[in-house]
Amino acid sequence: MRRHGWGAHTDPSFQSQPRTTREVVRRVAVYLRPYWWLVVATIGCAIVSLGFGLLYPKLTRYLIDEVIAKRRVEALTPAAVGLLGAFFLREAFNCLRIRINNRLEQNVIYDMRRAVYARLQRLPVHWFDQRASGDLMTRVIEDVNNVERLLIDGTEQGAVALLSIAGALVFMTSYNPTLMLVALTPMPLLVAGALWYTTTAHRRYRRQREASSAMNALLMDNLQGIRQIKAFGRQTHEDTRFADRADDLREGTLVVMRAWSWYGPAMQFIGAAGIGLVLWVGGALVLKGRMEVGQLVAFMLYAGMFFYEPIGRLHGLNQMLQAARAAAARVFDILDTPEERMATGEPADQLARAGVSDHSSGLAAPSVPPSWRARGEVMYDQVSFAYAEGKTALRNIALRARPGEMVALVGPTGAGKSTLVGLLPAFYQLDSGRILIDGHDIRTLPLATLRAQIAVVTQEAFLFNGTLRENILYGRIEASEADLVAAARAANCHEFISRLPDGYESRIGERGVKLSVGEKQRVSIARALLMDAPILILDEATASVDTATERLIQEALERLMQGRTSFVIAHRLSTIVNADQILVLRRGEIIERGRHDELVALGGLYAKLARIQNTTFIEESFDRLADTTS
Ligand SMILES: Nc1ncnc2c1ncn2[C@@H]1O[C@H](COP(=O)(O)OP(=O)(O)OP(=O)(O)O)[C@@H](O)[C@H]1O
Ligand SMILES: [Mg+2]
Repeated sequence: MRRHGWGAHTDPSFQSQPRTTREVVRRVAVYLRPYWWLVVATIGCAIVSLGFGLLYPKLTRYLIDEVIAKRRVEALTPAAVGLLGAFFLREAFNCLRIRINNRLEQNVIYDMRRAVYARLQRLPVHWFDQRASGDLMTRVIEDVNNVERLLIDGTEQGAVALLSIAGALVFMTSYNPTLMLVALTPMPLLVAGALWYTTTAHRRYRRQREASSAMNALLMDNLQGIRQIKAFGRQTHEDTRFADRADDLREGTLVVMRAWSWYGPAMQFIGAAGIGLVLWVGGALVLKGRMEVGQLVAFMLYAGMFFYEPIGRLHGLNQMLQAARAAAARVFDILDTPEERMATGEPADQLARAGVSDHSSGLAAPSVPPSWRARGEVMYDQVSFAYAEGKTALRNIALRARPGEMVALVGPTGAGKSTLVGLLPAFYQLDSGRILIDGHDIRTLPLATLRAQIAVVTQEAFLFNGTLRENILYGRIEASEADLVAAARAANCHEFISRLPDGYESRIGERGVKLSVGEKQRVSIARALLMDAPILILDEATASVDTATERLIQEALERLMQGRTSFVIAHRLSTIVNADQILVLRRGEIIERGRHDELVALGGLYAKLARIQNTTFIEESFDRLADTTS
C-alpha cells in the first residue's frame, strides 16, 4: 500500500487516553439519571415480555406430557390458545419497550451532545490549535452515538439477559438438576472467550475510531481548500490521500470484524455444543425412564432460548461495550479538558443547562459589575509569552495606551504582532507579566466581561454561513434595524448590500465566499462597529485592493477607531503616520517606539522604512530591512 502523508494512528492529536470499562460505565450512567423512570419502564417492559416468553417451554411441556401423551382432546384448544396469547403479549410489551427505549436513547444522545458541544466551545484557543476540526466533529457526531448505544442497549439487554439466564436456571433445575449441571459444562469456555475478547478489543476499536476521525479531518480540510485543490490541479493527489485514509478505516474496521468473526461463531458453537450435550445425556435419561419427553423438550427450549441465547447476547453486548469504551475515551477527552482559565461570566443557570460548571481561576473574585464598561486604558507590564516551551513569541513587552489612543504595531512578518494583540482578549495565557485594563488585571475579569470590551477585526475577516444581516448582528444580536443600517453605512458597506437583489437577506456562503475580500472586510468592520466596544483590535489584511476600495475601507476604519483605544496592525504607511504611538516589533521584542516624526528622527529600522515613501504596503520592505539590519 502506498503511503501519502501519515496514518491516523501515528498522529498524536487523534489519540486519546485509554479508559477502563468500569470508569466508562460509571460515567455514562450519569446521563441516565435524569430519565430513571424511562429506564425503569423499559426494563419493566422487557421483564414482562420475558415472563411471557418463559411460558412457552412450560406450555409446550404441558401440551406434550399432559395433553398429547394422556390423549386429553378437550385440553388441546385451551393450551394452544394460551400459547398464542402468551406470544401476543410478549410482542405487545416488546413494542412498548422499543418505543420507550427510543425516547430514552434520543434524550440521552441529545444531552450528551449538548454537553460535549458546550464544553468544546469553552475550551482554550490553544487546545484547538492542536486539533483537526474533522476529528472533533467525529467525536461529537459518531462517538457520542457509540457511547449512547452502550448505555441503552447495555443496561436493558444486559439486565434482561441476566434475568433470562437466572429464570432458565431455575426452571431447568426444577426439571432435572443433573441435566442442569451438564448444561453448565461449556461455561468456563464461554467465560474465557469473553475475557479474551474484552482484554484485546480496546486496541482494535481505538484504531478504528482514530481512522474514522482522520478520514473526516482530511475531508473537512479538503472541502475548505477545494479552490486550492483545483487551482493546483491536485485532484488525483487528493484522491489518493483520501483513498489512504479510507483504506485505514477499511482495514481498521476489518480487524474489528475479523476478531468478532472468530469470537461470535466460536461462542455460538460452544453454546450449541452444550445443547447437543444436553440432548445426549437427556435422551439417555428419557430412555431409562427417569425423565418425560415433554420435560426434555421444555428443558431444551429453556437451555437454547433462555440460557445459551442470552449468553450469546451478552457476548454481543461485550462487543458493543468495547466499541463504546474507545468512543467514550474520545468523548471524555473533551469533557475532561479544563475550560478557559477563569470565571466565564455567563449566567449560572444557562451554564448548568448546557452541562458546564463555572470554573474560577482561584484568583481574586471579579472586581467589576457585569455591566461594566471600560474607559479603555490598556497596559502591558513586562509580558512574555511562548506558544510552546522554549519558542518565545514575545519577550518583556511593556506598553501603555491611554483611552482613545491609537497604537500602531509594525514589524516584519512573524515578529509577534498578532500574538501581542491576541493576548488582550485572553485567547492565550501569559507566561509572565500582567495585562491591565483600567487598572484591572485581565485575569480577574470574567471572560465575558473582558471580551465585551474588545472588538476584533482579524486578518482573515471570518464570516459565518448565513445572511449579511445575521453576520452584522453578530456584533450585537439585539441591535435595532436603525443601528444595523447605521453601522453598515459607517462601514461603507450599506451601498453594495442595497444593490444586492436580496439586500441584507443575501446569503454569503461558507466563510463568506460569495463576497469579495474588500466587501468581507467592510462587513466585518460593520460587525465590530455594532459591537461598540471601548477597545479595538485591528489586524489589517495584507491583501491589496484597488485604490477606490482602499479609500472606502480606510474611511470605515477611521470611523471605527474614533473614540476607542485601538491596536492597529497596519501595513499602510498612511494609517501608521497618524498613530499616537508606533511600536516596532522584531522577533518578539519592541525595538523602537514613538510617533512617526520621532522614529524618523531616531534613524533606526522605522526611519529606513519611512524613507521608502512610495511603497504603500510596507511589509515587504520591512522584511528586507530586517534582514539587512539584523
Ligand atoms: N497558534 C500558534 N501556535 C504556535 N505558534 C504560533 C501560533 N501563531 C503564531 N505562532 C508563531 O508565533 C510567531 C509570531 O507570530 P504572529 O502571528 O504573532 O506574527 P505576526 O507579527 O502577526 O506576523 P504577520 O505580519 O505575518 O501576521 C511566529 O513565529 C509564528 O510561527
Ligand atoms: Mg499577524
